[in-house]
Amino acid sequence: MNSLTNCAISVITPTRNERETIAQLLNKLQRALTGIPAEVIIVDDSDDDTPAVIKQVTKKMRGSLSIRCIHRKPGPERDGGLSSAVCLGLAEAKAEYAAIIDADLQHPPQMLRNLYEEAREHNADIVMATRYKSGGSYEGLDGAGRKFISLGMKWTAKILFPETLKSVSDPLGGFFLIRRSIIDGVELRPIGYKISLEILVRGKWNSIREVPYQFHARAGGQSKSDLKQGIMALQHMWRLLCEAPQAARIWKFLFVGFCGTIINLATFTYLLHIGAAEWFALVIGAELGTLNNFTLHNLITWRDKRSTSLSGLAQNALKFHLSSSMSIIANFLLYALLRHFIAIPIIDNAVAIMLAMIVNYTLADTFVFVDRGAISKMFAAFRGKKVLSEDAPATSLVEAQTAGAQK
Ligand code: GDD
Ligand code: MN
Repeated sequence: MNSLTNCAISVITPTRNERETIAQLLNKLQRALTGIPAEVIIVDDSDDDTPAVIKQVTKKMRGSLSIRCIHRKPGPERDGGLSSAVCLGLAEAKAEYAAIIDADLQHPPQMLRNLYEEAREHNADIVMATRYKSGGSYEGLDGAGRKFISLGMKWTAKILFPETLKSVSDPLGGFFLIRRSIIDGVELRPIGYKISLEILVRGKWNSIREVPYQFHARAGGQSKSDLKQGIMALQHMWRLLCEAPQAARIWKFLFVGFCGTIINLATFTYLLHIGAAEWFALVIGAELGTLNNFTLHNLITWRDKRSTSLSGLAQNALKFHLSSSMSIIANFLLYALLRHFIAIPIIDNAVAIMLAMIVNYTLADTFVFVDRGAISKMFAAFRGKKVLSEDAPATSLVEAQTAGAQK
């Protein structure tokens, strides 16, 4: 492996009982990667003679492609199946870029060069091969049922993680290339087959490109995908939702906002019911809703950006009240306006609260829950001084710039 320090691309192929296709894949990979210093890492969980076939083929192959097979013995080593195999491959990879490709030739190996060139040309962190863009197809998926499930899963993921996946047309595909540094220090905990989703949601990437491809029928052997994998994909999405703070922020915000709205409306209705003045019911309802929202946003929506110190928390509470006041002003103004047209206070207030929520999200995301270390660094860069941020450790400008360059 020492000779691989200049390796440009590490190709990771998970295999389980792929004796029929692996030789063809390796030959095609060699042809596809001619001229690019590359290594192939096969992570094998086979019970058939796939490892023996790999040995045989690599012996015969001439050329500079380095091929390595890591065979995992039956038992706990194989826990996590396909995606833990890919994670192991990623941990072993040496090159700047890592590409993942299936061994059954459903992903065309010659496309690897396109993925790599696209990444280089556009300085992209991720290049996804996509079946769902013009020029691509998912015809190779086995049967109408599998196609339906594939589309359903894709849209479930896109709806659940809209900010992350808005520009990704095939987030669950198994054929893609990443700049390896985007997963440096990131703990990957995928369940099932969808390692691409795991990397998209947890990875530290900024730019993504897509290259259409045609998903062929299997060249031989059998698919290991079944209903269980579909259920695992849903479990995986739920885990990401719970574990990755930045994932599905908009849904978390809406959930918190929903709780706040219930509290707001319940208080408002109760106070009206006991004969309180309308303005009083509005103010108290809004304040209780705001307190609920600030607490839950710290615990759920922006927990990765919350302040840990008491003074930071107090400052944020103040800022949140300020931004909420803006949204409450929007709430009142719209309520007053609607009151002229519709005579049902609860409907007027519900609509007004919705507008207030949009104002609130925008301000919370850009003004309240911001990475205070980053802001301090930015000011320091202007002033050329040392930074002492209360939440972040003391960082000199030089260190800050080095850290920025490493990102
Ligand atoms: N090491 C290891 N361990 N490899 C596995 C395992 C496992 O438990 N299960 C499957 N593989 C390997 C297969 O040998 C193959 O190379 C690849 O992972 C994909 O497995 P298939 O059984 O052929 O899956 P599929 O064709 O139904 O689905 C694939 O393509 C989809 C579309 O791109 C997967 O990559 C999906 O994640 C992907 O969405
Ligand atoms: Mn397959």
